[in-house]
Amino acid sequence: MSDSTISDLTNIGDSQPARRGLLQLGITLAGACYAGAIGYPVYRYLATPARRAEIAEGEITTVTVAANGLPGPGTATIFLFGSRPTLLIHHQDGHYVAFDAVCSHLGCTVAYQPENHRIFCPCHGGVYDVNTGAVVSGPPPRGLTVYHVEAKDDHVVISKV
Ligand code: FES
Repeated sequence: MSDSTISDLTNIGDSQPARRGLLQLGITLAGACYAGAIGYPVYRYLATPARRAEIAEGEITTVTVAANGLPGPGTATIFLFGSRPTLLIHHQDGHYVAFDAVCSHLGCTVAYQPENHRIFCPCHGGVYDVNTGAVVSGPPPRGLTVYHVEAKDDHVVISKV
């Protein structure tokens, strides 16, 4: 054999581990892509409706209430912000406030009581402030989540702060 032939054989022997490593890397990457392509739709399919609602809810940051859905002065309405009930109060002086209507105690839906000037939870008697959503009395551990409200001419825009 000539020197060049021996040298060529040596080079072939040295490149095999590199080729084998590259092949293993390619197989690993292809496997990861395959697992992701199969796993993600399965995860989405198996996700609970509550989890799917959370995902969808997280994507909704603004709700517009049209004129025909707006409460008159001194009244309130409840609408869905994603999947969560939301309380929109129209005060006598014309300004609006909006709160997540889920009680922070055990999750009952609260109600506006204009005659008592309070937001009331019928489950265990929790009372919240009509302007701030802060706890006034009862078992709720914290106030209601406050939303930002922007009144326009013929509609109101409620958004997460
Ligand atoms: S759930 Fe509202 S006070 Fe208990």
